[in-house]
Amino acid sequence: MITKCYKIDTNNINQEQMQEAGALIAAGELVAFPTETVYGLGGDALHPEAAKKIYAAKGRPSDNPLIIHIAEVSDLERVAKVVPEQAKKLAEAFWPGPLTMVVWKKESVPYATTGGLDTVAVRMPNHPIALELIRKSGKLIAAPSANTSGRPSPTEGSHVVEDLDGRIAMVLDGGPVGIGIESTIIDLTEETPMVLRPGYITPEMLAEVLGEEVIIDPGIIAADDTTKPKAPGMKYKHYAPKADMIIVDGDKEKVVEQISLLLQEAKAKGQKAAVIATEETKMLYQSDVVLSIGTREEEDSIARHMYKILRDCDKLDVDVIYSESFKTPRIGQAIMNRLLKAAGHQVIHV
Ligand code: TXA
Ligand code: MG
Repeated sequence: MITKCYKIDTNNINQEQMQEAGALIAAGELVAFPTETVYGLGGDALHPEAAKKIYAAKGRPSDNPLIIHIAEVSDLERVAKVVPEQAKKLAEAFWPGPLTMVVWKKESVPYATTGGLDTVAVRMPNHPIALELIRKSGKLIAAPSANTSGRPSPTEGSHVVEDLDGRIAMVLDGGPVGIGIESTIIDLTEETPMVLRPGYITPEMLAEVLGEEVIIDPGIIAADDTTKPKAPGMKYKHYAPKADMIIVDGDKEKVVEQISLLLQEAKAKGQKAAVIATEETKMLYQSDVVLSIGTREEEDSIARHMYKILRDCDKLDVDVIYSESFKTPRIGQAIMNRLLKAAGHQVIHV
């Protein structure tokens, strides 16, 4: 299959190209598109064959459910059995935006989309191209991140092409995304709302709007396999770079010292090593490959560049990656959740 790629200017969206993209979705084909979090791989959410195509293109296990993307808050009623009061409050506060809500599904939502579950994940993205695509298609759009299963999520159109060229009908390239990590997922099907995946919207922000306690799935905090996460996708070793990755955590001076030591050892073994550092520390390392992920002054910059940096490590064909840890104040939990998985939970505390 030949994959068409259109560069779309977010401030001046080409309506004809969007019309063509929408028609492809309506015809059961797949179109990758930017959202504010990461790029999504879209297909008609209520058409089981489209879901099957998504799993095939990504090489994704079909028990891992898809998020349905909507363009109007009222479309939640089209897929939810009942719309909980909490969902109304959260939609009012955070939609369009990087929040996915899990609710009981309507019968019309195929099990192919929900991975066999009786619940469905729904989100209204905050990106003009995503919203336009949904509207032009006249459908609701099921979309996982537009990467090959197991690779870092795509934050630029070129990442999607790297992974999915020849496997899908179209890529809408709207440039680099704004947030860079996937949406927060909150489960509203139980007594107490529960965060299944940390993201840009924090549990504190959710609790404040809901006026009640919000818990975090114990399965995503556990570093081992003893507690299963509730979101099926969170159990997979995601976002893994090809190289072996180790995170060094602690005070700045000690971290720099430890990573420098590891770099010497790698050199002695003839290994090619990369360091993931920040603007504040990048000049402190003696290595051919020092990648700055962003600045600690602005934690959003760290989230935004994380997946691109992991892809860069793959392209540079390094053997080992030593990364600083980024327990930043607000979204540090979301960042570290991804980074720890990329590192297979290999951490040295200094
Ligand atoms: O930011 C995002 O959410 C991006 C963009 C494209 O919107 N999408 C995304 O989709 O990250 P994906 O498929 O890569 O991740 C979806 C996650 C998986 O961990 C999946 O298991 C979980 O959502 N999920 C989907 N439906 C669920 C459900 N009914 N119950 C629990 N978890 C669910
Ligand atoms: Mg994903």
